Formats: sequence, C-alpha cells, structure tokens
Amino acid sequence: MYRTHTCGELRAGNLHQTVYLAGWVQKVRRLGAMTFVDLRDRYGITQLVAGESAAESIKRAVDALGREYVIQARGVVVERASKNNKIPTGEIEVALEEIRVLGASETPPFTIEEQTDGGDDLRMRYRYLDLRRAATRKNLELRHRMARLVRNYLSDLDFIEVETPVLIKSTPEGARDFIVPSRMNQGQFYALPQSPQTFKQLLMVSGFDRYFQIVKCFRDEDLRADRQPEFTQIDCEMSFVEQDDVLEVFEGMVRHLFREVRGVEIAPLPRLTWAEAMTLYGCDKPDLRFDMQIVDLTTLARGRGFAAFDDAGYVGAIRVPGCAAYTRKQLDELADFVKRPQVGAKGLIHARYNEDGSLKSSVDKFYAEADLKAWAGACEAVPGDLLLLLAGGREETLPRLCELRLEMGNRLGLRDKNVFKPLWVTDFPLLEWNEGDQRFYAMHHPFTSPKPGDVDRMESDPGSVRANAYDLVINGVEIGGGSIRIHDPALQSRMFDCLGFTREEAAAQFGFLLGAFKYGAPPHGGIAFGFDRLVSLFAGLDSIRDVIAFPKNNSGRDVMIDSPSGVATGQLDELGIQVKSHGDPATR
Ligand code: AMO
Repeated sequence: MYRTHTCGELRAGNLHQTVYLAGWVQKVRRLGAMTFVDLRDRYGITQLVAGESAAESIKRAVDALGREYVIQARGVVVERASKNNKIPTGEIEVALEEIRVLGASETPPFTIEEQTDGGDDLRMRYRYLDLRRAATRKNLELRHRMARLVRNYLSDLDFIEVETPVLIKSTPEGARDFIVPSRMNQGQFYALPQSPQTFKQLLMVSGFDRYFQIVKCFRDEDLRADRQPEFTQIDCEMSFVEQDDVLEVFEGMVRHLFREVRGVEIAPLPRLTWAEAMTLYGCDKPDLRFDMQIVDLTTLARGRGFAAFDDAGYVGAIRVPGCAAYTRKQLDELADFVKRPQVGAKGLIHARYNEDGSLKSSVDKFYAEADLKAWAGACEAVPGDLLLLLAGGREETLPRLCELRLEMGNRLGLRDKNVFKPLWVTDFPLLEWNEGDQRFYAMHHPFTSPKPGDVDRMESDPGSVRANAYDLVINGVEIGGGSIRIHDPALQSRMFDCLGFTREEAAAQFGFLLGAFKYGAPPHGGIAFGFDRLVSLFAGLDSIRDVIAFPKNNSGRDVMIDSPSGVATGQLDELGIQVKSHGDPATR
C-alpha cells in the first residue's frame, strides 16, 4: 500500500491518525530546527513536517529531498500552529515518521507552480511536467467532465457511440488530407478522416437512427489559436429529422452543459440567417456579447462628390457608444488597424456626434451637418457617439467592418469571457464560387441538402441556392456546424454536377455512399461540435492548445516527441517511397 489518503484529503477530522501519503515534493522549507515539505498530487497539497524532535534519520532524509522527488511519507496528522486558509488541507500537517524515495528527480527546467517561470516553448517540450501544474491539470479535468456529460446526455436520448475507421480514403473536397502510405498496396494511400461524415451517413442507412462519437479528426490546414491539425469533434447524426429537430436536441445539450459546468441558464438560442449575420455583423460567426450592428449608409453617403464613397459599391458604419471624444491618436490607431494587411481597408472615415449635439466628420469638406445628421439617424446615434465608416465592395467591406467592430468590442471591454451569447446561424449558401479554380465548391460539404424551395435554381443560378445548413456560434467562435443531408441519389447527382464532378469522378470518390443510398436511405441530418473549442470556451481560454494534453505548435510540430521526423530509408523502401529531398530523411 502506497497511500491511505491523497494529498488533498486530510482535514481537522483526521487529527491523530497515522497516514501514508505519496506524491511529488513541491517545496522544502527550513525554519530554524523545523523542516516543512509541501507534498503534491492531483488532488492537492499537504504539508509534511520534520520537527525539532524528529528522528535523525528523518531529518537526514528530508535534507536529501529535492524538488519533484516522488516520495512516500508516513506520519501522524497534527494541528498546524499557523493555519493556511488558502488550501483545503491548511488546518493540519503530517508529522513525519518515515520517508521513502520512490523516484528521484533532476531539477525541473521550470517551476511547477501556478505562476511558472517556464516560457511556452519550454513548457511544451516538457509538457508532462507542465501537466503537473494545477492550471493545466484543471483544464483536462474540465475536458473529461464535459466529455462525460455529453456522453450521458446523448446516451440518455438513445444516441449510441460507434467508432468509425481512422484509415480511410482521400477526397479532394474540404481541407487538405493527411495521407498514410500503404505497405501492402504500394503507391496507394489511406487518408486520415477530416471528419467521420460519410461513415455516420452510412450508419443512418444501416438504421442506427441516432449516432454520436467523440472522435479525433485530422486536417492539414494552417494553424491558429483555435485550430489544431488533430482535434476532437462531438460528431452526431440522426434519422427521420428536419433542421428544427436537430437544433432542438443540440440546443438542449448545449444548455445542459452551461447549466452543469458553468451554472448558467442560457436563454433559448436566437437564430440568424447567414444573410442577416453578414448584413448586421459582417461575418457568419457574430459575437453577440455586444451590439454595434453594421448600418448600410450607401445611399446616404453617395452623391456628395467624395470619390471614396461615390465609387464604392457599399458604405457601412458602426456606431461606437460614448466615444465621440476619441483623440486624434486613438483615431489614427483605428485607421492603422483597418489598414493592416489582415484587414485590408484603404482608410477609415469617422463622424463625431458631440455631446453638445453638433456633428463633425473627417470629410466635412463634402458633407454638410444635415448629411451627418442623417447618418447619425440611420445609426440611431445619440450625442457622445462616434461613427466609424468603411467603404468599398460590399463583399470585402463587410468583413472589414466585422474586424473593426470586434476591435472596438475589445477596446471597450465588451467581450467578457464570463458572458456567453450562443446563437444558431442558418441558411448558409449551398455553394461558394472559387475564382482561382473557376468552379463552385460546397460551402459545407457535398452531402448538404439545398433548401427545398431553392432546388429549382441549382442549375440556373447555383450561387443563390441556400442550404439546410446551420452553425452553432458562441461569442464569435464557430463551435459547431451541420446540415440536413441529401438522401435522394438523383439530387446527390445534381449536386455533384454543380460541383463540376463527372459521373465517373463522383463514382470513384463517393460511389460507396451513392451505392448505399440505393438501398433505402432515411432522411437524415446531423452536426459536429469542435470539442476542443467548446472546452476552451468554458475554461475561458484563448487557445485550444491549453485543453489538449499533448498539442502541436503553430508549425504543426510536437516539440516534446520531435515529430514529424524522418524515417529510416528501409522503412521507405518497404513502402515503395522515394524521397527526392536532401539526403536520408532519417538523418535530417
Ligand atoms: P465542420 O468542418 O464545420 O463540420 O467541423 C465541425 C466543427 O469542428 C471544429 N473544427 C476544428 N477545431 C479545431 N481545429 C480544427 N482544425 C478544426 N476544424 C474544425 C469547429 C467546427 O465547427 N462533418 C461536418 C459536420 C456535419 O455536417 O455534421 C464537419 O466536420 O468547431
């Protein structure tokens, strides 16, 4: 027996008991003739003490301890002379009678404390030590708890978890695949799934009715704070459902999670169509924690001789409350912000609605005060407000206004991490035109069904067709996305036609699914949530890396195991792969 209690367990009620504890030495402190050891495990920290009267052998053993040694300690629970009310075990300490070193430790490369001295890179290289810190451990505990809540919630609703394969087939749609060479079929490759999409649809054909899986997905895309090359989805599919049925079930799940984990009651989720979201917020994932909706001033702003507006297809504004007195410097900063390449605007026009009711703009040469009044009226501005205007093509300007709106939300402290504003965005376009390839791509994926009322336009005006597709957005982050699927083989063929697939290409890539649909496919639809994103949102974190035990860095590397790495030439020979680049990959 290594331990009778954990390091987070002992209280005044355990006084005088002889206990065994096991854990890591967080700190050794000497105070005169007394030595204190903070012993840590997953559950907490308990203070051990070798007092003046302790045996010499104990004093020697304590002296030999270093940080992060793993020890077993036997002792008697005694009351502390000076209590520590910051930790649950702070009323007691354990008077040492015996110490056994179970595992020595070299001096760790950074302190294993709440505020560590280790930088990001170092902590990633020694992630197993970083995970000893309470802050990182808590994130994984939260993740576990949320996974369990999801499993229970869905299982109680008759969803069953089915595992789908990880070695599958590469398809050109969507993001880039990670591919895996096959030794037994040289020159051929598996792909790692970007999602279990086609398999969950096949499970519906098999009659499983309600499926879910908490599952790893793989996408070879550029990485950001909310993107990892391997990430986890809560992947779900249901048969005999329409959009509202799916939204209802998963709105229930999301509200359940908020209630259980954050203790907040979320109001029924508002729904915005994609077109509304774009018009009002300039993006398909609006942050509803604050208002500042975009107002179309195109008609009011044109025709006064100001070329930047007259030549623009669109002029849009946001009303920033209480910022009429912004300084020149603050406005210049905002102009610099919108001109950054990531935002891409040419310039920023502002109009102040001063507290005294007067209006003043950066383009007073062209606009009389009555014009500015009209802008203010359209924006429902009141004295003290600042209007910020951008102009250009509508498609480019709306996303810029979105960025500006978020920036103002940040500056004004309106994006509180403890406030949650989820919503559904529905009615996405079915197809997205790609200028480079001169063809349409499925905005969601090729199995998403068009809105029944729009099917007629699939050939004549494909760009205008809306999809039965929906996203769950929380605080400006796309947390989940799904759709009602096409289950009619004839409609699926028309969809492939829209995407420019020949019959042969469609058959080669998705023949298995089209074939399955010939044998009785139920109407079905589903959704997948980004589990890492959901957990990091609940944890109030900015990056999903913090809720993943062993994440990759922004170059897609695991710096702890040093991967990706070269492999031995022999291994490549077996796979029939020749590497053209610099020498033996194993020695690179
Ligand atoms: P989609 O591609 O929208 O849909 O993905 C679903 C959710 O997965 C999360 N996500 C990611 N999280 C971390 N890193 C990434 N690289 C990453 N990529 C996506 C997002 C996203 O909303 N099969 C469909 C779902 C369906 O139709 O049922 C799918 O995968 O939170």
